[in-house]
Amino acid sequence: MKGVILAGGTGSRLSPITKIMNKHLLPVGPFPMIYWSIIKLKEAGVSEILILTNREHLSSFIQLLGLGEDYKVNLQYKVQEDAKGIADAVSYAKSFVKNEKFIVMLGDNIFEDSLTPYIQSFKKQKRGARVLLKEVSNTTRFGAAVLDGKNNVISSIVEKPKETISPYCVTGIYMYDENAFKYIDSIQASDRGELEITDVNNLYLSEKQLHYDILQGWWVDAGTWESYYQANSFVYKRLM
Ligand code: DAU
Repeated sequence: MKGVILAGGTGSRLSPITKIMNKHLLPVGPFPMIYWSIIKLKEAGVSEILILTNREHLSSFIQLLGLGEDYKVNLQYKVQEDAKGIADAVSYAKSFVKNEKFIVMLGDNIFEDSLTPYIQSFKKQKRGARVLLKEVSNTTRFGAAVLDGKNNVISSIVEKPKETISPYCVTGIYMYDENAFKYIDSIQASDRGELEITDVNNLYLSEKQLHYDILQGWWVDAGTWESYYQANSFVYKRLM
């Protein structure tokens, strides 16, 4: 299976450093943030990886990671012309993944669990998508997944709900079949002007094709100062 790491966006919540620096190149522990996504994919046997980033920082990524020799992966790169949302970024991966199933990782998500069992479950799925949820104290800055416990399914996902509607958020690890591109083509920009990945996930949901697992280990979206600090602290205490 191929992997896609998103390393674009504006990183506005980490401004002013992100005025000159791509968020995914900031250090988390002794390595640039993006290193952790590459390693997680590699550990799970995903070694064909596309990195999507903005034009301004492309050369820094190439300088840092090259073709992936140091990590024993094959890296390719593509530029997302404008930060028009996560789903927009994923659309750039179409020619890379062709008609195969693939996994998308948000490059600012750092987590403890191995991806191997989740990818294995996804491989057993004939079609559809799979997301990984995590129990958090406040889902208002995430996509919040409401579960129908009786039937073991997600009943809905709401992007950044005004209040906490569920203890579970959708983490930035998405496994898709080729229908993802069809769904992305059919969605409209949200009120904040982005093509939302939650809309894509909800389309899978409406076809009863969105499956999930719950991450057991530690997880953080390092996109704010507070969570960036937590990511560093976790890596220092637990992974080094
Ligand atoms: O971390 C999990 C959350 O990530 C999910 O729960 C949300 O449903 C999802 O929308 C997303 O929310 P964020 O507000 O954290 O997304 P953010 O804008 O920070 O972007 C996440 C990653 O995607 C980040 O590594 C940058 C990259 N990105 C983002 C945008 C908007 C791109 O590569 N291109 C883009 O246009």
